[in-house]
Amino acid sequence: MSTTVENRGQFGSKIGFILSAAGSAVGLGNIWKFPGKAYNCGGGAFLIIYILMVVFIGTTVMLGEFVIGRKTQKNAIGAIRELNAKYSWIGGLGVLTGFIILCYYCQVGGWTIKYIVGYITEVSTIYADPMAYFLNNLLGADRFPVQGAIIYPLIFIFLTAFIISRGVAEGIEKMSKILMPLLFIVLIGLTIRSCTLPGADAGLAYMLHFDASTINANAFLVALGQAFFSLSLGMGVMITYASYLSKDENLVSNTGIVCFLDTCVALLAGFMIIPAVFATGIDPGMGGGFAFATLAGVFMSIPGGTIFGCLFYFLLFFAAVTSSTSILEGTVAFLVEEKGMERKKTVVVVSIVLFIIGIFYTLSQAHMNLKGIWISREGISYPIFGDFMEYLTDRLLLPLGALTTTIFAGWIWGTENAIKEATSDGKYKFALAPVWAFLLRIVAPIAIAIIIIAGMFLGMSIS
Ligand code: TRP
Repeated sequence: MSTTVENRGQFGSKIGFILSAAGSAVGLGNIWKFPGKAYNCGGGAFLIIYILMVVFIGTTVMLGEFVIGRKTQKNAIGAIRELNAKYSWIGGLGVLTGFIILCYYCQVGGWTIKYIVGYITEVSTIYADPMAYFLNNLLGADRFPVQGAIIYPLIFIFLTAFIISRGVAEGIEKMSKILMPLLFIVLIGLTIRSCTLPGADAGLAYMLHFDASTINANAFLVALGQAFFSLSLGMGVMITYASYLSKDENLVSNTGIVCFLDTCVALLAGFMIIPAVFATGIDPGMGGGFAFATLAGVFMSIPGGTIFGCLFYFLLFFAAVTSSTSILEGTVAFLVEEKGMERKKTVVVVSIVLFIIGIFYTLSQAHMNLKGIWISREGISYPIFGDFMEYLTDRLLLPLGALTTTIFAGWIWGTENAIKEATSDGKYKFALAPVWAFLLRIVAPIAIAIIIIAGMFLGMSIS
Protein backbone atom coordinates (compact mmCIF):
# COMPACT_ATOMS: atom_id res chain seq x y z
CA MET A 1 0.00 0.00 0.00
CA SER A 2 1.33 3.38 -0.77
CA THR A 3 0.68 6.82 0.49
CA THR A 4 -2.19 8.57 -1.20
CA VAL A 5 -5.07 7.24 0.83
CA GLU A 6 -4.41 9.53 3.76
CA ASN A 7 -4.40 13.20 3.20
CA ARG A 8 -7.18 13.31 0.66
CA GLY A 9 -8.57 16.58 -0.52
CA GLN A 10 -12.24 17.36 -0.89
CA PHE A 11 -14.15 19.20 -3.52
CA GLY A 12 -14.27 22.83 -2.47
CA SER A 13 -17.63 23.44 -4.02
CA LYS A 14 -20.70 21.71 -5.24
CA ILE A 15 -20.09 22.97 -8.73
CA GLY A 16 -16.57 21.49 -8.71
CA PHE A 17 -17.95 18.06 -8.02
CA ILE A 18 -20.76 18.30 -10.54
CA LEU A 19 -18.29 19.44 -13.18
CA SER A 20 -15.93 16.56 -12.54
CA ALA A 21 -18.64 13.96 -12.42
CA ALA A 22 -20.36 15.43 -15.45
CA GLY A 23 -16.96 15.82 -17.13
CA SER A 24 -16.37 12.11 -16.70
CA ALA A 25 -19.86 11.29 -17.92
CA VAL A 26 -20.03 13.59 -20.93
CA GLY A 27 -17.68 12.38 -23.61
CA LEU A 28 -17.42 10.36 -26.78
CA GLY A 29 -20.18 8.13 -25.40
CA ASN A 30 -22.70 10.93 -25.76
CA ILE A 31 -21.59 12.53 -28.98
CA TRP A 32 -20.02 9.74 -31.01
CA LYS A 33 -21.66 6.57 -29.70
CA PHE A 34 -25.19 7.63 -28.81
CA PRO A 35 -26.33 8.96 -32.21
CA GLY A 36 -25.08 5.77 -33.88
CA LYS A 37 -27.01 3.56 -31.50
CA ALA A 38 -30.15 5.67 -31.86
CA TYR A 39 -29.83 5.52 -35.64
CA ASN A 40 -29.27 1.79 -35.81
CA CYS A 41 -31.91 0.91 -33.22
CA GLY A 42 -34.80 2.66 -34.90
CA GLY A 43 -34.81 6.29 -33.72
CA GLY A 44 -37.78 7.46 -31.64
CA ALA A 45 -38.61 4.27 -29.80
CA PHE A 46 -34.98 3.85 -28.84
CA LEU A 47 -34.91 7.35 -27.35
CA ILE A 48 -37.80 6.44 -25.08
CA ILE A 49 -36.22 3.17 -24.01
CA TYR A 50 -32.95 4.97 -23.37
CA ILE A 51 -34.60 7.64 -21.21
CA LEU A 52 -36.43 4.95 -19.22
CA MET A 53 -33.14 3.17 -18.64
CA VAL A 54 -31.50 6.34 -17.37
CA VAL A 55 -34.40 7.32 -15.13
CA PHE A 56 -35.03 3.94 -13.53
CA ILE A 57 -31.69 2.18 -13.64
CA GLY A 58 -29.00 4.78 -14.32
CA THR A 59 -29.98 7.10 -11.47
CA THR A 60 -30.42 4.12 -9.13
CA VAL A 61 -26.94 2.79 -9.81
CA MET A 62 -25.34 6.23 -9.73
CA LEU A 63 -26.74 7.03 -6.30
CA GLY A 64 -25.60 3.56 -5.22
CA GLU A 65 -22.04 4.37 -6.29
CA PHE A 66 -22.20 7.82 -4.69
CA VAL A 67 -23.25 6.53 -1.27
CA ILE A 68 -20.54 3.84 -1.23
CA GLY A 69 -17.89 6.38 -2.17
CA ARG A 70 -18.82 9.11 0.25
CA LYS A 71 -19.40 6.78 3.16
CA THR A 72 -15.93 5.29 2.94
CA GLN A 73 -13.99 8.21 1.45
CA LYS A 74 -11.95 5.65 -0.49
CA ASN A 75 -11.31 4.65 -4.10
CA ALA A 76 -13.58 1.99 -5.57
CA ILE A 77 -11.67 -1.05 -4.40
CA GLY A 78 -10.77 0.31 -0.99
CA ALA A 79 -14.35 1.42 -0.49
CA ILE A 80 -15.88 -1.96 -1.14
CA ARG A 81 -13.19 -3.69 0.88
CA GLU A 82 -13.92 -1.46 3.84
CA LEU A 83 -17.63 -2.20 3.75
CA ASN A 84 -17.17 -5.90 3.15
CA ALA A 85 -13.78 -7.34 2.27
CA LYS A 86 -15.19 -10.43 0.59
CA TYR A 87 -16.42 -8.30 -2.29
CA SER A 88 -13.34 -6.36 -3.25
CA TRP A 89 -13.13 -8.32 -6.51
CA ILE A 90 -15.99 -6.10 -7.70
CA GLY A 91 -13.48 -3.27 -7.82
CA GLY A 92 -11.01 -5.43 -9.74
CA LEU A 93 -13.66 -6.14 -12.33
CA GLY A 94 -14.10 -2.42 -12.80
CA VAL A 95 -10.41 -1.94 -13.45
CA LEU A 96 -10.43 -4.57 -16.19
CA THR A 97 -13.51 -2.98 -17.76
CA GLY A 98 -11.92 0.46 -17.71
CA PHE A 99 -8.79 -0.84 -19.35
CA ILE A 100 -10.70 -2.41 -22.23
CA ILE A 101 -12.79 0.74 -22.71
CA LEU A 102 -9.68 2.87 -22.82
CA CYS A 103 -8.19 0.76 -25.61
CA TYR A 104 -10.78 1.97 -28.07
CA TYR A 105 -11.70 5.23 -26.35
CA CYS A 106 -8.21 6.57 -26.98
CA GLN A 107 -8.34 5.61 -30.63
CA VAL A 108 -11.49 7.63 -31.21
CA GLY A 109 -10.17 10.37 -28.94
CA GLY A 110 -7.24 10.56 -31.34
CA TRP A 111 -9.61 10.98 -34.26
CA THR A 112 -10.95 14.17 -32.68
CA ILE A 113 -7.43 15.61 -32.79
CA LYS A 114 -7.14 14.68 -36.45
CA TYR A 115 -10.33 16.64 -37.08
CA ILE A 116 -9.12 19.71 -35.19
CA VAL A 117 -6.07 19.67 -37.45
CA GLY A 118 -8.17 18.82 -40.50
CA TYR A 119 -10.50 21.78 -40.07
CA ILE A 120 -7.50 24.08 -39.79
CA THR A 121 -5.36 22.76 -42.61
CA GLU A 122 -7.49 21.04 -45.22
CA VAL A 123 -11.10 21.95 -44.78
CA SER A 124 -11.71 21.98 -48.53
CA THR A 125 -10.71 18.31 -48.75
CA ILE A 126 -13.12 17.50 -45.93
CA TYR A 127 -15.94 19.42 -47.62
CA ALA A 128 -15.25 17.89 -51.01
CA ASP A 129 -16.09 14.40 -49.79
CA PRO A 130 -16.58 14.11 -46.01
CA MET A 131 -16.96 10.36 -45.91
CA ALA A 132 -13.96 9.73 -48.12
CA TYR A 133 -11.92 12.03 -45.91
CA PHE A 134 -12.90 10.05 -42.84
CA LEU A 135 -12.24 6.69 -44.44
CA ASN A 136 -9.01 7.63 -46.18
CA ASN A 137 -7.44 9.40 -43.26
CA LEU A 138 -8.63 7.51 -40.24
CA LEU A 139 -9.64 4.06 -41.27
CA GLY A 140 -7.03 3.69 -43.94
CA ALA A 141 -9.23 2.44 -46.78
CA ASP A 142 -6.82 0.08 -48.47
CA ARG A 143 -3.72 0.96 -46.58
CA PHE A 144 -2.78 0.47 -42.97
CA PRO A 145 -4.46 3.36 -41.08
CA VAL A 146 -1.29 5.01 -39.81
CA GLN A 147 -2.99 8.24 -38.75
CA GLY A 148 -6.17 6.75 -37.33
CA ALA A 149 -4.58 3.84 -35.52
CA ILE A 150 -1.11 5.09 -34.61
CA ILE A 151 -0.27 8.78 -34.79
CA TYR A 152 -3.35 10.51 -33.41
CA PRO A 153 -4.28 7.89 -30.80
CA LEU A 154 -0.70 8.08 -29.58
CA ILE A 155 -1.03 11.85 -29.07
CA PHE A 156 -4.31 11.33 -27.22
CA ILE A 157 -2.88 8.61 -25.00
CA PHE A 158 0.17 10.70 -24.29
CA LEU A 159 -1.97 13.63 -23.14
CA THR A 160 -4.17 11.42 -20.98
CA ALA A 161 -1.12 9.74 -19.43
CA PHE A 162 0.61 13.08 -18.92
CA ILE A 163 -2.36 14.48 -17.01
CA ILE A 164 -2.60 11.38 -14.83
CA SER A 165 1.10 11.01 -14.11
CA ARG A 166 1.58 14.67 -13.30
CA GLY A 167 -1.57 14.85 -11.24
CA VAL A 168 -2.64 17.99 -13.07
CA ALA A 169 -6.25 16.92 -13.09
CA GLU A 170 -7.11 20.00 -11.07
CA GLY A 171 -6.10 22.26 -13.92
CA ILE A 172 -8.36 20.26 -16.18
CA GLU A 173 -11.21 20.73 -13.74
CA LYS A 174 -10.70 24.48 -13.80
CA MET A 175 -10.80 24.45 -17.58
CA SER A 176 -14.00 22.42 -17.53
CA LYS A 177 -15.75 25.28 -15.81
CA ILE A 178 -15.50 27.22 -19.05
CA LEU A 179 -15.28 24.52 -21.68
CA MET A 180 -18.11 22.22 -20.65
CA PRO A 181 -20.76 24.97 -20.66
CA LEU A 182 -19.27 26.17 -23.94
CA LEU A 183 -19.66 22.68 -25.39
CA PHE A 184 -23.28 22.75 -24.34
CA ILE A 185 -23.89 26.08 -26.06
CA VAL A 186 -22.10 25.04 -29.25
CA LEU A 187 -24.12 21.82 -29.33
CA ILE A 188 -27.37 23.74 -29.05
CA GLY A 189 -26.36 26.04 -31.89
CA LEU A 190 -25.27 23.19 -34.14
CA THR A 191 -28.40 21.20 -33.36
CA ILE A 192 -30.58 24.10 -34.45
CA ARG A 193 -28.59 24.49 -37.64
CA SER A 194 -28.63 20.80 -38.40
CA CYS A 195 -32.37 20.49 -37.84
CA THR A 196 -33.06 23.39 -40.22
CA LEU A 197 -30.94 22.07 -43.11
CA PRO A 198 -32.93 21.25 -46.23
CA GLY A 199 -33.85 17.60 -45.98
CA ALA A 200 -33.30 17.43 -42.24
CA ASP A 201 -36.99 16.96 -41.54
CA ALA A 202 -36.75 13.32 -42.57
CA GLY A 203 -34.12 12.86 -39.88
CA LEU A 204 -36.20 14.69 -37.31
CA ALA A 205 -39.18 12.55 -38.21
CA TYR A 206 -37.02 9.46 -37.78
CA MET A 207 -35.95 10.57 -34.31
CA LEU A 208 -39.44 11.57 -33.23
CA HIS A 209 -41.40 8.79 -34.81
CA PHE A 210 -42.38 6.05 -32.43
CA ASP A 211 -42.18 2.81 -34.36
CA ALA A 212 -43.17 -0.01 -32.03
CA SER A 213 -41.71 -2.61 -34.37
CA THR A 214 -38.20 -1.42 -33.50
CA ILE A 215 -38.72 -2.32 -29.84
CA ASN A 216 -37.02 -5.61 -29.18
CA ALA A 217 -34.66 -7.24 -26.73
CA ASN A 218 -31.69 -5.89 -28.61
CA ALA A 219 -32.88 -2.29 -28.24
CA PHE A 220 -33.16 -2.74 -24.47
CA LEU A 221 -29.76 -4.31 -24.31
CA VAL A 222 -28.13 -1.57 -26.33
CA ALA A 223 -29.93 1.16 -24.36
CA LEU A 224 -28.86 -0.23 -21.02
CA GLY A 225 -25.21 -0.69 -22.01
CA GLN A 226 -25.18 2.77 -23.55
CA ALA A 227 -26.72 4.30 -20.41
CA PHE A 228 -24.04 2.78 -18.19
CA PHE A 229 -21.30 3.78 -20.57
CA SER A 230 -22.57 7.31 -20.94
CA LEU A 231 -23.13 7.87 -17.22
CA SER A 232 -19.72 6.36 -16.36
CA LEU A 233 -21.33 3.64 -14.25
CA GLY A 234 -20.37 0.09 -13.55
CA MET A 235 -16.69 0.46 -12.85
CA GLY A 236 -16.47 2.51 -9.72
CA VAL A 237 -15.54 5.86 -11.26
CA MET A 238 -18.42 7.53 -9.46
CA ILE A 239 -17.47 5.78 -6.21
CA THR A 240 -14.07 7.38 -6.43
CA TYR A 241 -15.45 10.85 -7.26
CA ALA A 242 -17.98 10.76 -4.43
CA SER A 243 -15.24 9.74 -2.03
CA TYR A 244 -14.02 13.33 -2.22
CA LEU A 245 -17.40 14.76 -1.24
CA SER A 246 -18.26 16.11 2.18
CA LYS A 247 -21.37 15.25 4.17
CA ASP A 248 -22.79 18.66 3.36
CA GLU A 249 -23.54 17.71 -0.20
CA ASN A 250 -26.89 16.38 -1.18
CA LEU A 251 -26.11 13.18 -3.08
CA VAL A 252 -29.64 12.77 -4.35
CA SER A 253 -29.81 16.11 -6.10
CA ASN A 254 -26.27 15.63 -7.43
CA THR A 255 -27.35 12.35 -8.96
CA GLY A 256 -30.28 14.05 -10.64
CA ILE A 257 -28.17 16.87 -12.00
CA VAL A 258 -25.40 14.68 -13.43
CA CYS A 259 -27.83 12.23 -15.06
CA PHE A 260 -29.90 15.07 -16.45
CA LEU A 261 -26.94 16.93 -17.95
CA ASP A 262 -25.44 13.80 -19.46
CA THR A 263 -28.72 12.78 -21.04
CA CYS A 264 -29.33 16.26 -22.42
CA VAL A 265 -25.96 16.17 -24.15
CA ALA A 266 -26.66 12.74 -25.63
CA LEU A 267 -30.09 13.79 -26.90
CA LEU A 268 -28.71 17.03 -28.32
CA ALA A 269 -26.01 15.07 -30.11
CA GLY A 270 -28.64 12.75 -31.52
CA PHE A 271 -30.66 15.68 -32.84
CA MET A 272 -27.52 17.29 -34.19
CA ILE A 273 -26.21 14.28 -36.07
CA ILE A 274 -29.17 12.24 -37.33
CA PRO A 275 -30.91 15.12 -39.16
CA ALA A 276 -27.51 15.89 -40.71
CA VAL A 277 -27.25 12.28 -41.86
CA PHE A 278 -30.54 12.63 -43.68
CA ALA A 279 -29.86 16.12 -44.99
CA THR A 280 -26.43 15.33 -46.40
CA GLY A 281 -27.13 11.77 -47.46
CA ILE A 282 -23.95 10.66 -45.75
CA ASP A 283 -24.70 7.33 -44.19
CA PRO A 284 -21.88 6.78 -41.76
CA GLY A 285 -22.62 3.06 -41.66
CA MET A 286 -21.18 1.05 -38.86
CA GLY A 287 -17.62 2.26 -39.15
CA GLY A 288 -17.83 4.95 -36.52
CA GLY A 289 -18.28 7.93 -38.85
CA PHE A 290 -20.93 9.47 -36.62
CA ALA A 291 -19.73 12.77 -35.20
CA PHE A 292 -17.03 12.90 -37.86
CA ALA A 293 -18.07 12.67 -41.49
CA THR A 294 -21.72 13.67 -41.09
CA LEU A 295 -21.10 17.02 -39.47
CA ALA A 296 -19.22 18.45 -42.42
CA GLY A 297 -22.58 19.20 -44.04
CA VAL A 298 -23.56 21.30 -41.04
CA PHE A 299 -20.32 23.28 -40.88
CA MET A 300 -20.37 23.85 -44.62
CA SER A 301 -23.74 25.52 -44.30
CA ILE A 302 -22.79 28.12 -41.70
CA PRO A 303 -20.72 31.23 -42.24
CA GLY A 304 -17.40 30.73 -40.52
CA GLY A 305 -18.08 27.02 -40.47
CA THR A 306 -14.40 26.22 -40.44
CA ILE A 307 -13.98 27.99 -37.14
CA PHE A 308 -17.02 26.26 -35.69
CA GLY A 309 -15.72 22.93 -36.92
CA CYS A 310 -12.42 23.53 -35.24
CA LEU A 311 -14.06 24.70 -32.03
CA PHE A 312 -16.45 21.76 -32.00
CA TYR A 313 -13.71 19.16 -32.36
CA PHE A 314 -11.62 20.91 -29.76
CA LEU A 315 -14.52 20.78 -27.30
CA LEU A 316 -15.21 17.16 -28.20
CA PHE A 317 -11.55 16.38 -27.65
CA PHE A 318 -11.68 18.11 -24.29
CA ALA A 319 -14.80 16.22 -23.26
CA ALA A 320 -13.05 13.00 -24.28
CA VAL A 321 -9.98 13.82 -22.20
CA THR A 322 -12.00 14.52 -19.06
CA SER A 323 -13.51 11.05 -19.54
CA SER A 324 -10.36 9.15 -20.50
CA THR A 325 -8.47 10.56 -17.53
CA SER A 326 -11.24 9.43 -15.18
CA ILE A 327 -10.90 5.88 -16.49
CA LEU A 328 -7.09 5.75 -16.56
CA GLU A 329 -6.96 7.09 -13.03
CA GLY A 330 -9.03 4.11 -11.88
CA THR A 331 -6.69 1.58 -13.48
CA VAL A 332 -3.56 3.31 -12.26
CA ALA A 333 -4.88 3.88 -8.74
CA PHE A 334 -5.62 0.16 -8.48
CA LEU A 335 -2.14 -0.90 -9.54
CA VAL A 336 -0.48 1.70 -7.34
CA GLU A 337 -2.57 1.42 -4.21
CA GLU A 338 -3.38 -2.26 -4.28
CA LYS A 339 -0.39 -3.78 -6.01
CA GLY A 340 2.26 -1.38 -4.76
CA MET A 341 3.49 -0.41 -8.22
CA GLU A 342 5.24 2.87 -8.88
CA ARG A 343 2.91 5.52 -10.29
CA LYS A 344 4.84 6.91 -13.27
CA LYS A 345 6.03 3.52 -14.39
CA THR A 346 2.49 2.17 -14.12
CA VAL A 347 1.14 4.96 -16.29
CA VAL A 348 3.75 4.27 -18.98
CA VAL A 349 3.25 0.51 -19.03
CA VAL A 350 -0.55 0.71 -19.03
CA SER A 351 -0.48 3.32 -21.81
CA ILE A 352 1.77 1.23 -24.03
CA VAL A 353 -0.34 -1.89 -23.62
CA LEU A 354 -3.61 -0.11 -24.25
CA PHE A 355 -2.13 1.61 -27.28
CA ILE A 356 -1.08 -1.68 -28.83
CA ILE A 357 -4.42 -3.36 -28.22
CA GLY A 358 -6.23 -0.24 -29.40
CA ILE A 359 -4.59 -0.40 -32.83
CA PHE A 360 -6.68 -3.46 -33.56
CA TYR A 361 -9.82 -1.50 -32.86
CA THR A 362 -9.22 0.94 -35.69
CA LEU A 363 -7.97 -1.86 -37.92
CA SER A 364 -11.17 -3.77 -37.44
CA GLN A 365 -13.31 -0.65 -37.92
CA ALA A 366 -11.59 -0.29 -41.26
CA HIS A 367 -12.88 -3.72 -42.18
CA MET A 368 -16.35 -3.59 -40.74
CA ASN A 369 -17.85 -5.12 -43.81
CA LEU A 370 -16.03 -8.33 -43.10
CA LYS A 371 -17.98 -10.72 -40.99
CA GLY A 372 -16.77 -13.20 -38.45
CA ILE A 373 -14.58 -13.17 -35.40
CA TRP A 374 -11.38 -13.36 -37.39
CA ILE A 375 -10.48 -11.47 -40.45
CA SER A 376 -7.60 -12.19 -42.71
CA ARG A 377 -5.74 -9.64 -44.67
CA GLU A 378 -2.47 -10.03 -46.49
CA GLY A 379 -1.85 -13.24 -44.70
CA ILE A 380 -2.37 -11.83 -41.20
CA SER A 381 -5.43 -12.81 -39.21
CA TYR A 382 -6.75 -10.77 -36.37
CA PRO A 383 -9.98 -10.74 -34.44
CA ILE A 384 -12.65 -8.12 -35.02
CA PHE A 385 -11.46 -6.41 -31.93
CA GLY A 386 -13.64 -3.36 -32.26
CA ASP A 387 -16.88 -5.26 -32.08
CA PHE A 388 -15.56 -7.55 -29.47
CA MET A 389 -14.33 -4.83 -27.11
CA GLU A 390 -17.60 -2.91 -27.20
CA TYR A 391 -19.53 -6.12 -26.89
CA LEU A 392 -17.56 -7.16 -23.85
CA THR A 393 -17.75 -3.83 -22.04
CA ASP A 394 -21.22 -2.56 -22.91
CA ARG A 395 -23.07 -5.84 -22.86
CA LEU A 396 -21.29 -7.74 -20.19
CA LEU A 397 -18.74 -6.01 -17.99
CA LEU A 398 -20.44 -2.66 -17.30
CA PRO A 399 -23.83 -4.28 -16.59
CA LEU A 400 -22.05 -6.84 -14.41
CA GLY A 401 -20.29 -4.05 -12.52
CA ALA A 402 -23.59 -2.22 -12.07
CA LEU A 403 -25.34 -5.41 -11.00
CA THR A 404 -22.80 -6.17 -8.33
CA THR A 405 -22.89 -2.56 -7.16
CA THR A 406 -26.66 -2.62 -6.70
CA ILE A 407 -26.60 -6.00 -4.96
CA PHE A 408 -23.77 -4.83 -2.77
CA ALA A 409 -25.41 -1.55 -1.79
CA GLY A 410 -28.95 -2.92 -1.58
CA TRP A 411 -28.44 -6.29 0.07
CA ILE A 412 -25.01 -6.61 1.57
CA TRP A 413 -24.39 -3.16 2.93
CA GLY A 414 -28.15 -2.65 3.13
CA THR A 415 -30.64 -0.02 2.06
CA GLU A 416 -30.94 1.33 5.57
CA ASN A 417 -27.27 2.28 5.60
CA ALA A 418 -27.47 3.44 2.01
CA ILE A 419 -30.43 5.75 2.65
CA LYS A 420 -28.79 7.11 5.77
CA GLU A 421 -25.78 8.05 3.69
CA ALA A 422 -27.87 9.38 0.79
CA THR A 423 -29.64 11.81 3.12
CA SER A 424 -26.46 12.75 5.02
CA ASP A 425 -27.87 11.09 8.15
CA GLY A 426 -31.27 12.62 7.76
CA LYS A 427 -30.07 16.12 6.95
CA TYR A 428 -31.73 16.16 3.54
CA LYS A 429 -35.24 15.13 2.64
CA PHE A 430 -35.45 12.19 0.25
CA ALA A 431 -39.13 11.56 -0.33
CA LEU A 432 -38.44 8.88 -2.90
CA ALA A 433 -36.18 6.88 -0.58
CA PRO A 434 -38.51 3.85 -0.43
CA VAL A 435 -38.78 3.91 -4.22
CA TRP A 436 -35.03 4.04 -4.57
CA ALA A 437 -34.62 1.18 -2.09
CA PHE A 438 -37.04 -0.90 -4.13
CA LEU A 439 -35.30 -0.06 -7.38
CA LEU A 440 -31.89 -0.79 -5.86
CA ARG A 441 -32.80 -4.12 -4.28
CA ILE A 442 -35.30 -5.55 -6.72
CA VAL A 443 -35.92 -3.78 -10.00
CA ALA A 444 -32.40 -2.85 -11.08
CA PRO A 445 -30.70 -6.17 -10.25
CA ILE A 446 -33.44 -8.20 -11.91
CA ALA A 447 -33.62 -5.99 -14.98
CA ILE A 448 -29.86 -5.92 -15.39
CA ALA A 449 -29.56 -9.68 -14.88
CA ILE A 450 -32.24 -10.40 -17.46
CA ILE A 451 -30.57 -8.13 -19.94
CA ILE A 452 -27.12 -9.64 -19.39
CA ILE A 453 -28.48 -13.15 -19.90
CA ALA A 454 -30.52 -12.13 -22.92
CA GLY A 455 -27.38 -10.53 -24.33
CA MET A 456 -25.54 -13.80 -24.26
CA PHE A 457 -28.17 -15.38 -26.43
CA LEU A 458 -28.57 -12.53 -28.83
CA GLY A 459 -25.16 -12.96 -30.34
CA MET A 460 -22.75 -10.34 -31.43
CA SER A 461 -24.77 -7.59 -33.00
CA ILE A 462 -23.66 -4.44 -31.24
CA SER A 463 -25.50 -1.78 -33.14
N1 TRP B 1 -18.98 8.32 -19.83
C1 TRP B 1 -17.92 8.56 -20.73
C2 TRP B 1 -18.47 8.89 -22.09
O1 TRP B 1 -19.65 8.92 -22.28
C3 TRP B 1 -16.93 7.42 -20.79
C4 TRP B 1 -16.51 6.99 -19.44
C5 TRP B 1 -15.76 7.68 -18.55
C6 TRP B 1 -16.88 5.80 -18.80
N2 TRP B 1 -15.61 6.99 -17.40
C7 TRP B 1 -16.29 5.83 -17.52
C8 TRP B 1 -17.64 4.71 -19.19
C9 TRP B 1 -16.51 4.81 -16.62
C10 TRP B 1 -17.86 3.68 -18.28
C11 TRP B 1 -17.31 3.72 -17.00
O2 TRP B 1 -17.76 9.13 -23.01
